[in-house]
Amino acid sequence: MGSHARLPVTLSINGSRYQLLVEPRRTLLDALRHDLGLTGTKKVCDVGDCGACTVIVDGRTMYSCLLLAVDCEDRAITTIEGLARGNELDPVQEAFIRQDGFQCGYCTSGQVMSVRALLDVHPEPTDEQIRRTVTGNLCRCGAYSNILAAARLAADLQAERRVTHQSELRKTRAEDSR
Ligand code: FES
Ligand code: FES
Repeated sequence: MGSHARLPVTLSINGSRYQLLVEPRRTLLDALRHDLGLTGTKKVCDVGDCGACTVIVDGRTMYSCLLLAVDCEDRAITTIEGLARGNELDPVQEAFIRQDGFQCGYCTSGQVMSVRALLDVHPEPTDEQIRRTVTGNLCRCGAYSNILAAARLAADLQAERRVTHQSELRKTRAEDSR
């Protein structure tokens, strides 16, 4: 195989399937940003040191600069573009905005993805769990106290939305049964 030979790969990202031809050395990060135009995932160090490129793969956070696209065939990948539902931001995104959980923004999508993955497993995390979660996401601007506040608020917003959703569901069922 020549050094520029490309391999077919099917990536499942944010619920959509994408068929690509990529070089075996293509990282998932470069496939997302350059082949698919999903530039919300940031490239900073490109060597697994900073966490800016964090995405969720099969429910776990991973550095996309350390994954080869060809190894991600048929794995469920979520990027920052997959969090909002229409015009409604994910509670984690909303909380980062409300708590000013960023300055330059380079680390932000990675931070948001890490907190999103945490809340998927621990909807009411302790501060210690939040701190441990974002240890793999470096913030050179030092926005950590606001990031912690944003993660706490995200948990509250998520719980509020769940209660609202359940009461709307009960109302709809009651109306349907009349
Ligand atoms: S860009 Fe992947 S860890 Fe820094
Ligand atoms: S907001 Fe600038 S690196 Fe975190």
